[in-house]
Amino acid sequence: MEKKKKGILDFAEMKKNGEKITFITSYDYHMAAFSERAGLDMLLVGDSLGMTVYGYSSTIPVKMDQMIYHAEAVRRGAPNTFVIGDMPFMSYQKSWEEAVDNAGRFYKEAGCDAIKLEGGVRVCDQIQAITDAGMLVMGHIGLTPQSTGQFGGYKAQGYTAESAMQLIEDALAVQDAGAFALLLEAVTPKVAGVITRMLDIPVLSIGAGPECDGQLIIVHDILGIFEAFTPRFVKRYASIGDEMVRAIGEYAREVREGVFPGPEHTYLMKKGEFARLEEMLADMQKNEEE
Ligand code: KIV
Repeated sequence: MEKKKKGILDFAEMKKNGEKITFITSYDYHMAAFSERAGLDMLLVGDSLGMTVYGYSSTIPVKMDQMIYHAEAVRRGAPNTFVIGDMPFMSYQKSWEEAVDNAGRFYKEAGCDAIKLEGGVRVCDQIQAITDAGMLVMGHIGLTPQSTGQFGGYKAQGYTAESAMQLIEDALAVQDAGAFALLLEAVTPKVAGVITRMLDIPVLSIGAGPECDGQLIIVHDILGIFEAFTPRFVKRYASIGDEMVRAIGEYAREVREGVFPGPEHTYLMKKGEFARLEEMLADMQKNEEE
């Protein structure tokens, strides 16, 4: 039976009923199809693809066009799942006009259901403008990877009462600007719990503890594909990277030893055709010698 696609009314109802929202990153057709089969509620085409797919050391170099290509593939792989496109660095910071144009690209060119952008009070004009243009925005506060330079690295947020108050102000501002949901990244769980209870919109966590309305994780982290570093909030559910090395290595060994390809991996000529070919070749050789 085809999966029923959830939308913002379902997510609001899930928050009301205390039913957790399941959310994972996705960057290509097959990963999206597997996640849809696994029954995930939301997929994020995250700019984390800069690190997980392209091998950059941060998300800063990611361009809008790259995001659109990947979002299109995810949309095709998961037609019945809510897909969110992540606005890359400098696609929305400069002006609300540019933010609306780039958010619109995720809708028009990739068929996304919503967009996500990083920041609190300082991006509320952009959130409001995108929402006024008829699109859905997920806010993202706490550890915001596009501005880690300002934090002095990948640092969790909300360790002090002052820092918690700043997060609460940002969360309320994002909700007031019209966001349909908020993502908290690397926030201390008690503060995340306070924000989740204060806000009417669903609050998702990536590294913000169990009290939020749902959880996001980077798919390469839980599958054991991304090996550069592992944040504290990651739980690994598989070692696909090791399995890939094993399988690719075994293929290379069999090629070297002449084991692969075997007869079952090759195509058979029609009966008697090889004998006819040999006759033709013999005739050809004879004609050349004459
Ligand atoms: O790009 C991404 O995957 C993200 C998550 C780290 C929250 O923004």
